[in-house]
Amino acid sequence: MSEVRKKIESLREEIRYHNYRYHTLDDIEVPDAEYDRLMRELQRLEKEHPELVTPDSPTQRVGSEPSEALVKVTHRMPMLSLGNVFAEEELQEFHERVAEKLEFEDGAQSLQYAAEPKLDGLAVSLMFEDGLLVRAATRGDGTTGEDITHNVRTIASVPLRLLGDGYPVVLEVRGEVFMPRAGFEAFNKKAAAAGEKTFVNPRNAAAGSLRQLDPKLAAERPLDMYAYSVGLVEGGVLPGHHSEILDQLQTWGLKVCPERRVVTGVAGCLEFYNDIQRKRDELPYDIDGVVYKVDSIAMQQELGFRSREPRWAVAHKFPAEEELTTVEGIDFQVGRTGALTPVARLAPVFVGGVTVSNVTLHNIDELHRKDVRVGDTVIVRRAGDVIPEVVKVVKRRRPKKTVEVQLPTRCPVCDSHVVREDGEAVARCTGGLYCKAQRAEALKHFVSRRAIDIDGLGAKLIQQFVDEDSIGNPADIYRLEKDELAERERMGEKSAENLVNAIEASKSTTLARFLFALGIREVGEATAANLAGHFGNLPSILEADEEELLKVPDVGPKVAKRIRDFLDEQHNLDVIDQLQQLGVHWQDVEPSQSAEDGPLAGKTFVITGTLPGMTRDDAKALIQKEGGKVTGSVSSKTSYLLAGEKAGSKLAKAEKLGVNVLDLDGLRQLIGT
Ligand code: IVH
Repeated sequence: MSEVRKKIESLREEIRYHNYRYHTLDDIEVPDAEYDRLMRELQRLEKEHPELVTPDSPTQRVGSEPSEALVKVTHRMPMLSLGNVFAEEELQEFHERVAEKLEFEDGAQSLQYAAEPKLDGLAVSLMFEDGLLVRAATRGDGTTGEDITHNVRTIASVPLRLLGDGYPVVLEVRGEVFMPRAGFEAFNKKAAAAGEKTFVNPRNAAAGSLRQLDPKLAAERPLDMYAYSVGLVEGGVLPGHHSEILDQLQTWGLKVCPERRVVTGVAGCLEFYNDIQRKRDELPYDIDGVVYKVDSIAMQQELGFRSREPRWAVAHKFPAEEELTTVEGIDFQVGRTGALTPVARLAPVFVGGVTVSNVTLHNIDELHRKDVRVGDTVIVRRAGDVIPEVVKVVKRRRPKKTVEVQLPTRCPVCDSHVVREDGEAVARCTGGLYCKAQRAEALKHFVSRRAIDIDGLGAKLIQQFVDEDSIGNPADIYRLEKDELAERERMGEKSAENLVNAIEASKSTTLARFLFALGIREVGEATAANLAGHFGNLPSILEADEEELLKVPDVGPKVAKRIRDFLDEQHNLDVIDQLQQLGVHWQDVEPSQSAEDGPLAGKTFVITGTLPGMTRDDAKALIQKEGGKVTGSVSSKTSYLLAGEKAGSKLAKAEKLGVNVLDLDGLRQLIGT
């Protein structure tokens, strides 16, 4: 019997150790399979000897039965909160109060703070007696919390028994339970797929999980915990500095945040703050600021508390990423292609470090999905450098008699009809270049650096020209006179001359740039270059029917139709003609149409896997250049599968269908290089 007992104890030791390596140190020593074997062996022995099962056994994480309600717990030592600062001056004031109270002579330049991220989760207290986790509780109101031992036991990084030795008889560890972002997203994705309730953010997810009555539910939630301080300590002593206490807790098996540092003075605090703010988006968990704590415990004791906050610590919060504001209007903006974009005009609100007064609602479907109305109170979010968004409407605060916003039937800029093609999220103004919004945007695109490239013709100037009708289409740019320009407000002789020179220089261009500059829908830089390369000259493009256009690499039926539609409009042909009359020119190139007679003509390829020394796009271009076609999926019509390393299901399918499989060398042989 005692042999079995010994075996069980040693297995538990071993498992606890690997748990610690894995969950606390994030530095595994044995593969998962070995860990699983140890666990299974322990489970087997405990099953055979149920009398030897103890509550601190690693098998007992999801032990208890669901409770009826959470039991109240009184904290023997209250769990306090922290004062906040937002600005540098406030931090300076905090530091001065500390320095004064500690009677520093030199302004406490050398005072050391333990700096840590302020984790955005839930404060919990873990009570260890003789190293055994006997109770976990929420903070509650600081005096009374709730017993959540059954749920906290399911958190893998929380030791059920402290490791090593030297810990006090009674040790209360305090820290933050949180749900790492990746786990939160995965959890929400799964919940959404199963039609279950999703959580708005990781914090709520953590809070909801901890308050479950059934530990089996909590066990399914990917929770984690960082210890950040101690509460009650009896029958033992701890080191004299906060930073050392955290190190000590780590050796006893608790997980502490790796992003912590001892810093000196206000300057050190600010440096830490900036570092963490920069890193914020990359951290695997949410934080809402940093915390500075006077590192010396003796000094902490001297400083003491003021009402419910310690005088020795302060939270330095990041600007809020979510704020409330009201919608003052909803307008539709018209872009270059005529797309109507609903934009919410907001009462200006400071969020994520900037003042936001406009937020795009993307398209009418999105607007209806969120059901944003004029007069609504909304939550606006701006995280990091991400563009601000309306998260949701606070429906409870909706004023009476609001109306749902409808898609306008006529363009707000030019009054032309608005159409929305079947299956498209986007509604468009049909005014084309008649519409001043589209004209201004089209002109901005035309002159942009990667298009015709006219330096000095900025957005403001273009808007002026469009508003006063002195530029109606791109050709009019080449009709601008220098004297006329120089007379303009705010434009001196010199800049007028520079602009004229830039306009003159832009006349010498390439066919690819010219095509791109025209702003044909769906024709981006790459497609324009492919068109230019394939046909070599403009007349051939003007004559090409959709079938011929389809032979151009990357041009599918939709793009071919857009090109044809554009070139079928007489006013577009007029502009092209005028531009050439006014001197816009380029060098024709040798058409690569001959690809039709290339060695791969008539052959269809599918590319899969990683090709040695060549991207898939390059391989595709190579095949197309030699006359072959590249499609996305393998069928009986596929002539060849070009397969690189780690080819998966496509290779299997090709083999099943008897499609020829090639590697890069095989392809080169086919081409004859
Ligand atoms: S120390 C007496 N350290 O912030 C000071 N708190 O208002 C005890 N928090 O709800 C708190 N990260 O859960 C401390 N590194 C950290 C923290 C932290 C987050 C939370 C804590 C409490 C709130 C304090």
